[in-house]
Amino acid sequence: MQIDGKPWRTIWRDQAGGVGIIDQTCLPHSFETLTLASLQDAAVAIRTMQVRGAPLIGAAAAYGLALGLDEDPTDIGLERAHRALAETRPTAINLRWALGRVVDSVCALLPEARAERAFAEADAIAEEDVAINAALGRFGAELIKEIASKKPGRTVNILTHCNAGWLATVDWGTATAPIYQAFQAGIPLHVWVDETRPRNQGAFLTAWELNHAGVPHTVIADNAGGHLMQHGQVDLAIVGTDRTTRTGDVCNKIGTYLKALAAHDCGVPFYVALPSSTIDWTLTDGRAIPIEERAGTEVSHISGRTADGRIVEVQLTPNGSGVANPGFDVTPARLITGLITERGIAPASAEGLAALFPERARTR
Ligand code: MRU
Repeated sequence: MQIDGKPWRTIWRDQAGGVGIIDQTCLPHSFETLTLASLQDAAVAIRTMQVRGAPLIGAAAAYGLALGLDEDPTDIGLERAHRALAETRPTAINLRWALGRVVDSVCALLPEARAERAFAEADAIAEEDVAINAALGRFGAELIKEIASKKPGRTVNILTHCNAGWLATVDWGTATAPIYQAFQAGIPLHVWVDETRPRNQGAFLTAWELNHAGVPHTVIADNAGGHLMQHGQVDLAIVGTDRTTRTGDVCNKIGTYLKALAAHDCGVPFYVALPSSTIDWTLTDGRAIPIEERAGTEVSHISGRTADGRIVEVQLTPNGSGVANPGFDVTPARLITGLITERGIAPASAEGLAALFPERARTR
């Protein structure tokens, strides 16, 4: 992604041996970067959502483990770093997948060789994420082109939920990769951006990155999607996922299920874009996915920027009202038109995923 004429990724190795990130808690009001210099920094960044989005959480955790091994490369240090990072967020499977990859790459090595090998594995995870998202973007862009060819001269309207964008990955995004590639190919398109209460990742992050990429878009209240679908104003929906079962159930940001229900009722194609690292091959039922319960203050309060540039937080709910804040929900496979992966578009089913990933489907 170009930001002010300069190419950026969302995570990188810096000159001083640390790991650079964009502090996403400051967006869209200010663009700030920071350096993760320790295991503790990495764990805090994931927990407080300075980095977020399933693939980026995976890459950040991999770098976090490398930083931890730099501090203590012993078996005890490895175990401690793994535990600290695994506990940061429960839903996105990429976190555990990336930690597992780094552990496997270092556990047989002598302690003094571990940190360097772990950094190399984290680099590989980050590079692969870029290539995978570019590949799934090509398959998704073909889909958008096909829809565009059926309505010549008219704009393709795409609805997305949360931020499954550039900011949620190392580059390209998942749900946004097809959008960016179709846009770059000259397909006239427009994106409906669900604001995605309570943390507003759509309004804050997706809108910010689409703005930078010059992609036409409109931010809508979460409740507007069904109405727009009923009135023929959505040609397709594309969302991301934090964990997808081997049977094609999709866990994603809270509210995704309601959009899928509305899309099903209105005959709007509903696609999920995902790198295969987001598939949990051990699960056959989405109801088994652990759902993160987040702080109630995300619901009871809201923050924003005043006209004179101050960031303020205000309370929405009366004192004394209870609040609940499940961060994710599960959309059953039957509501999903297709899964856009790096190997092609699969039906959301055990057979569909097994046909694309036979070597993984054989394992449990
Ligand atoms: O809580 P977040 O902001 O980490 O949740 C992000 C999402 O739900 C994304 O849709 C998902 O991680 C897919 S990212 C490509």
